[in-house]
Amino acid sequence: MEKQSKIFVAGHRGLLGASLIKELLAQGYAHLITRTHQELDLTDRGKVNVFFRREKPEYVFLTAGRNGGIKANATYPADFFHANIAIQDSVFEAAQKNEIKHLVFYASSCIYPKISAQPMKEEYLLTGAIEPTSEGYAAAKIAGIFACRSYNNQHQTKRFIALVPNSMFGPNDHFDLDNAHVFSSLIRKFHEAKNTGERKIVLWGSGSPRREFVFVDDVAKASIFAMQNAGRLENIHYNIGSGQDFSIKELAAMIVEVVGFKGNVEWNVSLPDGAPRKLLDSSRFLALGWRSQTEIMNGLRKTYEWYNRNSN
Ligand SMILES: NC(=O)c1ccc[n+]([C@@H]2O[C@H](COP(=O)([O-])OP(=O)(O)OC[C@H]3O[C@@H](n4cnc5c(N)ncnc54)[C@H](OP(=O)(O)O)[C@@H]3O)[C@@H](O)[C@H]2O)c1
Repeated sequence: MEKQSKIFVAGHRGLLGASLIKELLAQGYAHLITRTHQELDLTDRGKVNVFFRREKPEYVFLTAGRNGGIKANATYPADFFHANIAIQDSVFEAAQKNEIKHLVFYASSCIYPKISAQPMKEEYLLTGAIEPTSEGYAAAKIAGIFACRSYNNQHQTKRFIALVPNSMFGPNDHFDLDNAHVFSSLIRKFHEAKNTGERKIVLWGSGSPRREFVFVDDVAKASIFAMQNAGRLENIHYNIGSGQDFSIKELAAMIVEVVGFKGNVEWNVSLPDGAPRKLLDSSRFLALGWRSQTEIMNGLRKTYEWYNRNSN
């Protein structure tokens, strides 16, 4: 990827898209193309084709899509399935027809079996049943991985790169309580409880599931690294994680400390927990030379600072 290459960051106002814009500019990539959802609906195959034909992007980071926490996944499985499949299908096909150089696609750790040996290696894909609450989303992401592989095989290229980041967090995340991931929804709940002087907060599930969190800037750097090293990649998906997991109870305790909430935390065990543990084995990507750099408390402080500045 040259500094003057034409790079399309699809979904640039989202968590990962915004971080990618920041990292690409910091690394001297100046020719960035963006479109908001309103300007270009990426599920619209005709409009996506016209856009690729006119703009001729050379590189694409496909961060656009629908994703959310356990509640959103369980409430809107069809919407999550449809939006992701439609975006992938229209963008992949336009990328192939227009022979762009490389595209990075993002799957998710929920593609792996709900009950799985840990840490999860790339080859565990399709070795067991996936978590039912996220199956619409996961099915679309699994299809995306196989689409990348199929385009590369059929056209004998390395055009499509599939990355599997674990749970991301950072500035520009969603903090609305219906859609947010656990990290950002806990920040908001504790922040609001502190401001309203609540003495007690009740959280979803048992708090025992373990999750691996990766700061969004680290995933953005991993994505740029993948583009820069595309020639060295195999035609498989690559896990991207921080290498460390925490129980939701441990996460809550860290957020309590950073936010400064003084009340009690209780757990509503009648609500579902999801998969018991989701830790990725990222050794395949690490072997290429990438490292996750942000320690969780550092990333949490940066995220909370951003939330404090933008919560209105
Ligand atoms: N967040 C995570 O923890 C996580 C973990 C693993 C993988 N991933 C994957 O990584 C990618 C980036 O995630 P993210 O959390 O950065 O997502 P995000 O914050 O939800 O941002 C997604 C962006 O896509 C845009 N978008 C959605 N539908 C669109 C459409 N039809 N046409 C054009 N733009 C559309 C959204 O714009 P509007 O808001 O205007 O609709 C938003 O700006 C996604 O593929 C996600 O599935 C995320």
